[in-house]
Parts: sequence; structure tokens; C-alpha cells
Amino acid sequence: MRIGVMTGGGDCPGLNAVIRAIVRRTGGMYGGEVVGFRFGWAGLVERNIVPLGIDQVSGILPRGGTILGTSRTNPYKIEGGVKKIHECFKEERLDGLIAVGGEDTLGVAHSLFEEGLPIVGVPKTIDNDIAGTDFTFGFDTAVHIATEAIDRLHTTAESHNRVVVVEVMGRHTGWIAVKAGIAGGADLILIPEVPFTLAEICEVIERRHARGKNFSILVVAEGSEFPKDGHDEGEEAGLVLSRSGTDAFGHVRLGGIGNKLARAIEKRTGYETRVSVLGYVQRGGTPTAFDRVLGTRFGVAAADLVHTGQFGKMVSLQGDRVIPIEMSHGTRSLKRVDNELFDVARTFFG
Ligand code: F6P
Repeated sequence: MRIGVMTGGGDCPGLNAVIRAIVRRTGGMYGGEVVGFRFGWAGLVERNIVPLGIDQVSGILPRGGTILGTSRTNPYKIEGGVKKIHECFKEERLDGLIAVGGEDTLGVAHSLFEEGLPIVGVPKTIDNDIAGTDFTFGFDTAVHIATEAIDRLHTTAESHNRVVVVEVMGRHTGWIAVKAGIAGGADLILIPEVPFTLAEICEVIERRHARGKNFSILVVAEGSEFPKDGHDEGEEAGLVLSRSGTDAFGHVRLGGIGNKLARAIEKRTGYETRVSVLGYVQRGGTPTAFDRVLGTRFGVAAADLVHTGQFGKMVSLQGDRVIPIEMSHGTRSLKRVDNELFDVARTFFG
């Protein structure tokens, strides 16, 4: 059996654990051969292929990023792109492909499966917002990094009597913000799922100051909308973008809500306010033990799906069990932060 593997979308810690597990399971258990496609779907369109054997994956388990490289290439947006992928399957004699990626990569994988190609999916995103799986690898690492940053920002905020706004990743959902915010003892957490006003934010900070705390830590997910009542402080409402244009999947480039909030809070409350944007630091570097184990389990399970011919499925974590589900399940909707978790976070606001 000859199977391909590709990684698409934003990179995240744990991708190499998946690749290693696929290669070891396929070679060791099934005597099959694995090839890697470089830079996401572009690798299949352009036939950018590398052999993946035990030597190529040796030592990669603790490494961040992906040895295959990644991209946000959408073959449906490239003229003749999908046809080239069909040809690639045929001419490279692929018995199956494992697509490792988030909502966009899995969306393409599902469409190609519906066109008859033998594909299975492995869900991946630091945002943890793919439906059907309790966790995606990369998320735990991102939460650890953000928590450590919040701890560090606490001591400097306290020393200077400042409000510090910490902007974390989270395009559509606030999982990183909520988990890192709870772990880091944030005084307020703002996420896309729960609209807020500037008046509410300032009220929380002022309440805190009234009880003798002269500093505050606010965590905000980059995909949160800036509130309408921020107009009074000269800021525009809505999503905050770092630049114009969209990627091949139509996503805008987010970034900057932390700065806007910091300006507006300082203007309205008079408290000195600073911002820290964590950005790509959350996605880089070595994965936590949890993400290494989850990536490894997903890789082994995905290899098994290919070898048992269960195409159109993706692996998922439910409780502590890795279970195959329909790939369409993971691409239909996003998993948003649930009220129970946010309610826990809210207990500590102010
Ligand atoms: O999807 C994961 C993610 O890290 C989001 O949190 C973030 O908005 C986006 O990727 C950034 O994408 P890019 O790598 O294209 O800047």
C-alpha cells in the first residue's frame, strides 16, 4: 500500500508527531510505503513529493511546525487544481491520502472524497474549534504558552499599577482566551462568542480598583468584535484587521483588537493601559506531552483508517477515546466555547 500525507493551514505543535506516527504505523504494522506532499494542497497540485521512511521521521517528535511545510492553498481556487490532484493520485499510485488540517483543509479533503478520492482526515488547529473532537493537538501547547505569558504580565502590571490587555489567537472562537485566562487568573476575558460593551469592560476594571487592586489583566481573543460604544472614544466597531485582503479560503487577517481596547480603556477610565499581542509565539516551538500523545494517537488511528479502507472519515478525541467520525461532521460547523466553561471564567471577573 502506498499512502500520502499532507499538512495544510496554519502550523501547530504536534504535526510532526502525527507524521511520525503515520509512517511508523504504516511501515511497521502494514509494511506499506508513505510519501509526503509539501506545503499543503500545493504539494499535490505541483507534485512536490518527498519519501517518508523511518529515517526521515527519526527525531521529529519534539519538534514544532511540520517537516512537510504547510500553506493555505485552496485547489478549488486554482485553475485545473482539482484535476491535477486527481492525476496525482493516479500517477503516484496512491491508495489513500491522510489530510492533516483545520476546517479549510478538511473541507477540501471532504469535497475531494465526495469526488471519489480515498482520503481520511486528522483535525488540527490551535484554536480547538473543530466540531466532533473534544481537543485538537496544538491547543494545549498554545494554552500553556499563553498562561505563562499572563503570569509574566501579572507581575509587571502589578508593579506599575497598569491595566494590561493580552491579545491571544482565536479566529472564530475563544478557547485559548478562556482556558489560558482561567489558568492565568485573568480579571476579564473577552471572546467572539460573548458580545461585550466598553462600558461593561470599564465597569469591571473600576470595580476591581475600588476594592484596592490597582492593576488588571484582560485577555481578548483576536476574533472578538470591538464594541459599538467604543465609538465615543474614537474607535470603529467590529472585527479588527491587521491588513486588508483575504486568504484563499476567504478569511480576513485579524489582529489589533488589543491595541484598540487598550486605547479606549485608558481614555475612558484614566488608568494607564498597555497591550501585549502574543501572536505566532503561541503556535511555534515544541509541543507539550499532551499534544505529542494526542498527535501520535491521531496519526496511528488515521493510518489504521486508511488500511481498513474507511475513507471519508476523520479521527476524533471523545473523552479519552480516539474514535473515527464522518469527515463532514468536522467541517459542518465550529465548536464554540460552551456556557458552562465561560461561567466558570466569569466568576473571577472584577
Ligand atoms: O487557525 C489558526 C490560527 O492560528 C488562528 O488563530 C489565526 O487567526 C490564524 O491561524 C492566523 O493565520 P495565518 O497563519 O494565516 O496568519
